[in-house]
Amino acid sequence: EKGGYDHFMIKEIYEEPQVIKDTLSEADKVHEIVKKFKKFDRIYFVACGTSYHASLVGEYLIESQIGIPTEVILASEFEYFQKTLDDHTLVIFLTQSGETADTIKALKIAKQKSETLAIVNVVGSSITREADHVIYTRAGPEISVAATKTYISQLVCIYLLVGYLGENQEILTKLEEVPEYAEELLDSENQIEQIAKKYKDSKDFFYIGRGFNYPTALEGALKLKEITYIHGEGYPAGELKHGPLALIDKNIPVVGILPPGSSYMKTYNNLEEIRARGADMIILGASDDKMIFDIEDKILFDPDIDEILAPLLYIIALQLLAYFISVEKGIDPDKPKNLAKSVTVE
Ligand code: F6R
Repeated sequence: EKGGYDHFMIKEIYEEPQVIKDTLSEADKVHEIVKKFKKFDRIYFVACGTSYHASLVGEYLIESQIGIPTEVILASEFEYFQKTLDDHTLVIFLTQSGETADTIKALKIAKQKSETLAIVNVVGSSITREADHVIYTRAGPEISVAATKTYISQLVCIYLLVGYLGENQEILTKLEEVPEYAEELLDSENQIEQIAKKYKDSKDFFYIGRGFNYPTALEGALKLKEITYIHGEGYPAGELKHGPLALIDKNIPVVGILPPGSSYMKTYNNLEEIRARGADMIILGASDDKMIFDIEDKILFDPDIDEILAPLLYIIALQLLAYFISVEKGIDPDKPKNLAKSVTVE
């Protein structure tokens, strides 16, 4: 059942290129749903955990590429925001399992006043019976407790949504290249395993990203916490100097997400400030980036990966990093302690 892999998690990561293709085949259905939307002038995303991080990517994309005011609310906090719901608001629920109690509760509140869309992996799950519209993410069953391929499939759905909502053919066309880039990255597995071996005994990690890749930093840190029990903290690159820089020293490895594009230089400068404090750097960047040539621990990506699509690809490296650290520490990554695959209590 693990198809020759040691764990479900690594099998599921290796399925990601195919999951991207399968989810892209839902494009026409996404387009049909977008055509049916009533008029709205605001979007809320509601989700928990990894699905919350996918929603944050959605917020950055919709705000920057389409210009519709968008907000992401944790499902467990949603009831405190319900007074602002109205019939000009679209509320999007992201949930892999479709059974998360916090998310279902929020949907029941939202549907009384607003149009609702659920983006779900499990066919026929509870949430699909409550929402006005449903999009399936086509990741297939995910056995490992930590969400990996379902996150990727949620992102693909979000990009499709943004492409059709914003009538942005460029994004839709670029998406077609993503499965190939994902395959390429999986080939650099060995390099990531070496980095994992080097840092497995660290007690704290920081993950730094900006813009579309701030959520990537959060999700990378969540994966680390869940399956290695190491403290990992995701932070927006520009925010470090407003506090956390005080605790950075050589014992804290910092994972910097540095794709080429409009935010490159600012993020680079923020990472330089960290490096000056003596922290070990693990940089995710383009293979032709000369500015990072002297960094020892690097995970390199195709330089042609568009900045907008980087969240879909850079996270794969961070999933692998967490996986290899977990294995190095002798933990079973598929079954982290204290966690359940679907959380059916509030
Ligand atoms: C993280 C993880 C959890 C889930 C969260 C929401 O790897 O699996 O954080 O993302 O419990 O679950 P769904 O998406 O099923 O609502």
